[in-house]
Amino acid sequence: MPIQPNFLERTAFFTLNAAPGPMLDLAGLLAYKAVNTAVELHLFTALVAQPASAAELAQRLEADERGVRALLRALLAIGYVVEENGRYHNSPMTDKWFVQSGVLDMNAALSVFNVFLHELWPHAAEVVRTGERPFNFYEFVYSDPELAHNFQQMMVGNANVVGAEVLKKLTVPAGVARLLDVGGGHGVFSVMLANAQPHLQATILDTAVALETAKHHISQHNLNGRIHLLPGDMWQMDWGEPYDLILLFNMVHHYDLDTNRKLLQKAYAALKPGGQVAIFDQIEGSVFGSGSNGIVQMLAFMFYLFANGRVYAADELMALLAEVGFKNQQITKMRLSPGSSLITAVK
Ligand SMILES: C[S@@+](CC[C@H](N)C(=O)[O-])C[C@H]1O[C@@H](n2cnc3c(N)ncnc32)[C@H](O)[C@@H]1O
Repeated sequence: MPIQPNFLERTAFFTLNAAPGPMLDLAGLLAYKAVNTAVELHLFTALVAQPASAAELAQRLEADERGVRALLRALLAIGYVVEENGRYHNSPMTDKWFVQSGVLDMNAALSVFNVFLHELWPHAAEVVRTGERPFNFYEFVYSDPELAHNFQQMMVGNANVVGAEVLKKLTVPAGVARLLDVGGGHGVFSVMLANAQPHLQATILDTAVALETAKHHISQHNLNGRIHLLPGDMWQMDWGEPYDLILLFNMVHHYDLDTNRKLLQKAYAALKPGGQVAIFDQIEGSVFGSGSNGIVQMLAFMFYLFANGRVYAADELMALLAEVGFKNQQITKMRLSPGSSLITAVK
């Protein structure tokens, strides 16, 4: 949980500007590093069996007692552990997002962001100055198997959180329908759709490395006969037979407007007449709440930094869809993923 100033402190920081607000951002960075250290030391896992004093925990972790004590006090201040009579246990927040991480695994997200912070963020000023990146984002992600795996796991978490809601809002044609999940990586959305629609045949297009995670989910759900894999570079390859539905989930934020035009043209060409394209992404303007807006704007800057991407306004995407030839554009805000919307359009 971020450091939360109380009422008087908020007045000093935010209303009177009498205390240095940027200190909170600095402390936020230190808080992130403290949590990351706990994850690396497996501290939260070590507290699952039973609460421990700093000395007992240091023994369990085979670590320096003073170090463990200092780390526990830092984690206590930001709500990751709770102290009772000198013994510490995980807070409900830690339990939910780090330990019982079946839905959204924050361990994977932290490990991915740790690599990004060390390897990509140091280029930020240079990228903003020149508009050029000395790296290709996906080549970077897929050059390291552990990072590639954790990246997909992080996206699985997001899909688990929003999947059911997205499914509810998406109209899948009845009967035998063909779905193409472009950049479908981990396969969770295709698996959910195939489970909900017994006649659906799905194809997931992504890089061979990303599809390793999809293979696992498809087998787990016994969907090998109904979900097919199309490994390769989506810009180079033919997307295959005419489809009824094409998913572009968390894709458009990676690209500039011209590249997205090409993406939508490829989708248009691969759809049957009457077929539907579905874009799920962060959409500027559909954000409710200053916390969500802060998260979306930080992500937007990161999308630019990593891949010349951005968060688009709904109007821009609607106009682009119309320009490519799509009709009947609809937008639905997602409740469970603040700032995200589902946009559909018909060929
Ligand atoms: C942000 S992830 C989104 C994954 C999934 N659609 C979701 O919403 O959770 C973007 C995906 O696009 C894939 N991708 C990016 N560039 C690609 C390319 N040139 N060819 C095929 N897949 C690509 C990545 O491998 C990654 O799995």
